Amino acid sequence: MARLDVIETFHGILFPGHLHTQDSLQLALKFEFQDTDILIVSYPKSGTTWMQEIVTLITNRGDPHVSQTVPNWARAPWLEQHYCAAVLEASSIKPRVITTHLPYHLLGPALQDSKAKIIYVSRNPKDVVVSFYHFHKMANFLPDPGSFPEFLHQFLEGTLHFGSWFDHVKGWTTATMNNLLHITYEEMSMDLHGAIKRISSFLQCPLEEGKVNDCVKHGSFNSMKDNKMVNYTLIAEEIMDHSKGSFMRQGTVGDWKNMFTEEQDQYLESVFKSKMQDCTLEFVWEK
Ligand code: A3P
Repeated sequence: MARLDVIETFHGILFPGHLHTQDSLQLALKFEFQDTDILIVSYPKSGTTWMQEIVTLITNRGDPHVSQTVPNWARAPWLEQHYCAAVLEASSIKPRVITTHLPYHLLGPALQDSKAKIIYVSRNPKDVVVSFYHFHKMANFLPDPGSFPEFLHQFLEGTLHFGSWFDHVKGWTTATMNNLLHITYEEMSMDLHGAIKRISSFLQCPLEEGKVNDCVKHGSFNSMKDNKMVNYTLIAEEIMDHSKGSFMRQGTVGDWKNMFTEEQDQYLESVFKSKMQDCTLEFVWEK
């Protein structure tokens, strides 16, 4: 079988070549957004799949039919992946929901005059790096992560696939756009009901209280863990090996405490302090 962990380098950032090609990445930068589009943006492992589910539920007024019958990659495809255009063309789902992990400095120009609604989800980097580490173990289109200390070092250096977490978060949080909503994984985790109301209001898709409760119910970790349309168990085992872990792994805030040593914590804190000093975003590190 051909190797899946082939690397594509684009504008100095590594991407999994199994899913991203020079052509698909190039096309993403020139993508013509429609004003009715909803774009979900995140660094990997920040709650992307969760937001895909929440947006699907909100736009379907709490009805779980679409989220339980259409895989997330077919209802909110990744802009930079080679199948995106074909999926959008074949889909009758409106409004179009598109997902991306691209950094602002690459995608910003395509969004310049667009009225598409953009939701940027971020998560505290300690939980991101732990989640990403476990994901590398099960995702055969990503390189073997090696040891956690090595992986943490690469994460802090910004040399992992999808580039630097710091550049990603700073790029999107300092972007000046009226149609951009910032939300954190931790906010969703601590008050999903309130987060859904904020997102639905941003999407101009007001929901009655009962419908918000439906979204909370179907967008909960336990519900999504069992939903084949989002837990990635439909993906072939040679691409994602569920014997090595679950995509819906912990779903908590502060799991990093089970992984980090004191020294690793100080290492991340010092890099965070120096790189994020001009960023106003405040993260919640534990519940
Ligand atoms: P963990 O590995 O910490 O459990 P992404 O979709 O960006 O790849 O992010 C995946 C992370 O989001 C995983 O984190 C996954 O468990 C978590 N997640 C997905 N759905 C969730 C939900 N409904 N509630 C809480 N966390 C969720």
